[in-house]
Amino acid sequence: MKDSAEANPLDLRVWLDQVREFGELKDVYGADWKLELGAISELNVKRENNPALLFDQIPGYPDGFRVLTCSTSSPARLSSILRLDIEKTHDGLVQQLRGKPKQWVAEAPKFDPVYTEKGPIFENIQRDESVNVLSFPSPLWHEKDGGRYIGTGCSVVTKDYDSDWVNVGTYRVMIHDDKHVGLDMVPGKHGHIQYQKFMQANEPFPVAICIGADPLHYLISGIEVPFGMCEYNYIGAILNKPVQVVKGELTGLPIPASAEIVLEGWVYPGAEKIEGPFGEFHGYYPGKLTTAPVVKIDRVYYRNQPIIVGSPPAKPPNDYSYSKAVMRSALLFEALIAGGVPDVKGVWAHEIGGARMFTVVSIKQRYAGHAKQAGHILSQCGVGAYLGRYSIVVDEDIDPANLQEVMWAVATRTDPDLDIDIIKRSVGSKNDPMFVTYQSKTAFSSRAIIDACRPFDYLNEFPEVAEASKELQEQIKSKWKELF
Ligand SMILES: Cc1cc2nc3c(=O)[nH]c(=O)nc-3n(C[C@H](O)[C@H](O)[C@H](O)COP(=O)(O)O)c2cc1C
Repeated sequence: MKDSAEANPLDLRVWLDQVREFGELKDVYGADWKLELGAISELNVKRENNPALLFDQIPGYPDGFRVLTCSTSSPARLSSILRLDIEKTHDGLVQQLRGKPKQWVAEAPKFDPVYTEKGPIFENIQRDESVNVLSFPSPLWHEKDGGRYIGTGCSVVTKDYDSDWVNVGTYRVMIHDDKHVGLDMVPGKHGHIQYQKFMQANEPFPVAICIGADPLHYLISGIEVPFGMCEYNYIGAILNKPVQVVKGELTGLPIPASAEIVLEGWVYPGAEKIEGPFGEFHGYYPGKLTTAPVVKIDRVYYRNQPIIVGSPPAKPPNDYSYSKAVMRSALLFEALIAGGVPDVKGVWAHEIGGARMFTVVSIKQRYAGHAKQAGHILSQCGVGAYLGRYSIVVDEDIDPANLQEVMWAVATRTDPDLDIDIIKRSVGSKNDPMFVTYQSKTAFSSRAIIDACRPFDYLNEFPEVAEASKELQEQIKSKWKELF
């Protein structure tokens, strides 16, 4: 498709109208960027049926300079972002997602982004000396953060040194001063791999940081899209139309034509500085401070009355733990199938582990070793490897999303001596709260694979579950309706 009129410029405001219509958007006036926005959002997301929050009239900033939080943290909002039928229930959303990531990957090559000359993002431009990143109400999210973070629900556009691959990843962005920001790309992430190549060539690394857009942008830049694939193509496959982009004046990097705010600039070789601390998705500040690349910002583009999309992590459940649990569970399900594991019944990447550190798969055991195979692939596949910890395999009678049931299976169907495998020196992270204890300076960490299925060689002898049968439960529920 070549016609830009049919492309989608990823306009946040179109989505906000929709969410307002189905009653899940709340306006908040007068909250301070310093800690109030963060704490209000944190308390909000821990409530049942929480709305998305749109902060306005933020002291010290012009009216209309806004911050949005909690955009992805309900089934209805997440299904609307993913262009599925609006689902009020979690189960309905998971059902609708079945098979979708595979379809999106297959169709992505058909949806190259479409370039256009103009877009609302160019309504205001700060150039060179006039650049002031502090023009926007970037929050100080948590009490012990090392600075104000303009980028949380953001999408960072970068390109490869020796191919035409453009990557879009969500990496947090801390303000150092009016013209410099820190960009925390963890080694192994695609943006970091591209960065390393520029640094090896001793050349400046071009960056365009998109601070707000249709939340589909950061939802997809924040999950593991296959290496070498551009997230714009993947988003195009979800929308069934290409993304409409404009070129950054300096770097030529593609940015959504209706983005809210974009910071454009370069990381010069050697420009690294301490970044953080920052309250993380697993619920801790980092134990050890490390450096991160510093981007010198030479252009700021923004729409009239711009909106920062914020997505502050914290002790789960947090702003994005729900959406990550849903998305990563769907991707892990498909990775297991692609890895050749038969009879996978369900997968859940629990919010308590930030959708990374505690993952569960249920299977119908078919052969000796089936459970271990599933557990190891769950732990080590591309989507699951980074900062994993516990991967648990349960039988099909256990709901992998129900912690009570999962831990019951662990307590009653395992012999720790036989059923826990440890993988040493696996893919770790400096963001791991346990990093403080690691002897190595590099981020390795171990994994436990727990086979909490009934032992395959004793399936026939294994004791039966002492629980009313499904049929008896149904009979009782219909006869004793007033009780249940
Ligand atoms: C709100 C949010 C913030 C994130 N912050 C970071 C971060 O600061 N650094 C990082 O490496 N990954 C971060 N992630 C995870 C990455 O976005 C994710 O691993 C993604 O797959 C990276 O893109 P890539 O696969 O193209 O490298 C964040 C994700 C979300 C949703």
